[in-house]
Amino acid sequence: MIDLHCHILPGLDDGAQNLEEAVEMAGIAERDGIEKIVATPHFFRNNFVHEDLSIIKERRRELSRALEAKNIQVEILCGAEVHISHNLIDEIRKNRSYLVLNQSSYMFVEFPSEHVFSGVKELFFELMSEGIMPIIAHPERNSVFARNPSFLYELVQMGALTQANSGSFSGIYGSEAEEAVFRFLELNLIHFIGSDGHNRRSLVPRLSEAVKRAEIVLGKKEAKALVADNPRAVLEDREIPYLPEPVNPNEIQKKIKMKIPFFKVRSEE
Ligand SMILES: [Fe+2]
Repeated sequence: MIDLHCHILPGLDDGAQNLEEAVEMAGIAERDGIEKIVATPHFFRNNFVHEDLSIIKERRRELSRALEAKNIQVEILCGAEVHISHNLIDEIRKNRSYLVLNQSSYMFVEFPSEHVFSGVKELFFELMSEGIMPIIAHPERNSVFARNPSFLYELVQMGALTQANSGSFSGIYGSEAEEAVFRFLELNLIHFIGSDGHNRRSLVPRLSEAVKRAEIVLGKKEAKALVADNPRAVLEDREIPYLPEPVNPNEIQKKIKMKIPFFKVRSEE
């Protein structure tokens, strides 16, 4: 498996606090069957401003050396989790290689947890015009997407991709995110599962349990695509192979409503 989303580089954000914790996280991932981790420190969120971005590559090298010394067979690659902002296009023009995943055309975009700003479609269109394919990080944790899957559907329809957190499948972010992630799966609105691992205790880099739960909704091959085939395509900068047709949540609602009068008539007979 490949974990596209993990805060494993030490001392850069609210993820691993030191090299020792980062090594332990990689050990947890290895035991779960993860072979590659893309390190995705927060960018442009709260206080996570990095003056010298080359520190990211330096931390990756340090961690890779430490893993080699401990014989932990997990490859660490560079990426970022980019908080959505109005000057994102300027930032991409300046620092593209640090913002995308493993030098590819794919980039994680993180939304605030409570809202989706109104210009998001225009921004995504601009990103795509710059040759960037946005992957919405954990949409199930955003209350607007969770309560109105049609917003997410519209973005996926225009070509955006999405990544769900493995912890959402077991309810670690609460019942709203848990219900939303299964709903999104049913609507074909999820393209990757990542761990969003932050530490060695509560938010650990594991994927296998979430894959088992996703299998129940999607089937074995499709669930595996979310942690293997699709992330591999991202690392190789090509189109993802598992891209199911998204289902419009409003169309499903209409069908349900159309059925109700039929049942009412039957029950009155
Ligand atoms: Fe994250």
